[in-house]
Amino acid sequence: MSIINLKDKNLYYIGGVVRDELLDRKSFDIDITYVGNAIEFAKTIPDAEIIQINEPFGTVRIKLAGQEIDIASTRCETYPQKGHLPVVGDIGCSLKEDILRRDFTINALAKSTLTGEIIDYTGGIDDIKTKTLKVLHDNSFIDDPTRIVRGLKFSVRFGFEFDEHTKKLQDNYLSNINYDMSYKRLKKELVETFNLNSWTAFEKFVNEGIYKLIAPCNFTLPEVNIENLITKYKPEILWIIYVGLLPDISNLPLTKQEKKIVDDFHSLIGKSTNSDFEIYKNFEGVNLESIIMFATVNPEIVKHYLDNLRNIKIEITGKDLQEIGIPPSSKYSEIFDYVLKEKLKNPALTKAQEIEIAKKYL
Ligand code: CTP
Repeated sequence: MSIINLKDKNLYYIGGVVRDELLDRKSFDIDITYVGNAIEFAKTIPDAEIIQINEPFGTVRIKLAGQEIDIASTRCETYPQKGHLPVVGDIGCSLKEDILRRDFTINALAKSTLTGEIIDYTGGIDDIKTKTLKVLHDNSFIDDPTRIVRGLKFSVRFGFEFDEHTKKLQDNYLSNINYDMSYKRLKKELVETFNLNSWTAFEKFVNEGIYKLIAPCNFTLPEVNIENLITKYKPEILWIIYVGLLPDISNLPLTKQEKKIVDDFHSLIGKSTNSDFEIYKNFEGVNLESIIMFATVNPEIVKHYLDNLRNIKIEITGKDLQEIGIPPSSKYSEIFDYVLKEKLKNPALTKAQEIEIAKKYL
């Protein structure tokens, strides 16, 4: 565990960082909680510079011996509006109350910064040993349905499974979804889950009906597994390749680029692919992500394009055409297409041969 330069009997590592240490994995971020008011505590630390205070949330960022540390106050939370951000209740509550508001037992562990003792009120250590994901109470998914996707994320990342009761709670929730939820938070978890590029995760997502959290629609798992294509061709935005296959993701806040990827995928469907030239023209200028998505519709054509056609480029330019005495006109694009058709048949053509082909066209 990356250790902070600060010890106190009321100061604990909490959540993912304790879990990750037990799993011998690197943590993305280190959550630290002070039992009591963290802001007041920060003011008493000798030599600490207070960088930022968030009074309503009871959090504070300090700089100590060159290290920036975020400290949260223990707090309880309530979900007056189910599916949205919780409202912070009592700041400075007990460690136990702070822990019992959390999602899974494996994320409900605390470790003393002073003694290194691990506090485990919910059996999280055993659940890590048995690779089990268990919620802390029956309303967990009703309060915060993004936890269903978090469960999927942890199942992929660690190879853990829901216990029977948690799976039942998931099924119950999915048969009665409250669509008034924070789609920004849902998107964050979908991004973190599907950026792991796991077809197994997508299978679960679809077959268990988790996708219905996004919108009430029906979808069946495509027959073509695209995980290997993603590994081989290395597109930039992985999650959208999976989630964008669903018929309706309009509830998710997408970036311009993500939206274009999905739109381009839809516009590829139904296009004629009778020749290499048609295939080339369909995919030319289209995001790699959309092309890989299209592999769920026609994998052979996608592989043929990516392996054999994608890198074929004609060398001849408008300047070359002018030099052989053809004045600039709309005819140029016809000539380029004609040369391209020949080059797709014979990628070894040289520029001089392309020029001869252009002359022949005329
Ligand atoms: N948490 C929760 N419910 C959520 C999100 C978070 O109860 N919907 C709690 C969990 O105890 C979690 C902690 O807040 O461990 C910190 O959240 P986050 O940083 O998102 O989770 P990590 O467990 O640290 O996961 P990751 O490793 O993906 O950062």
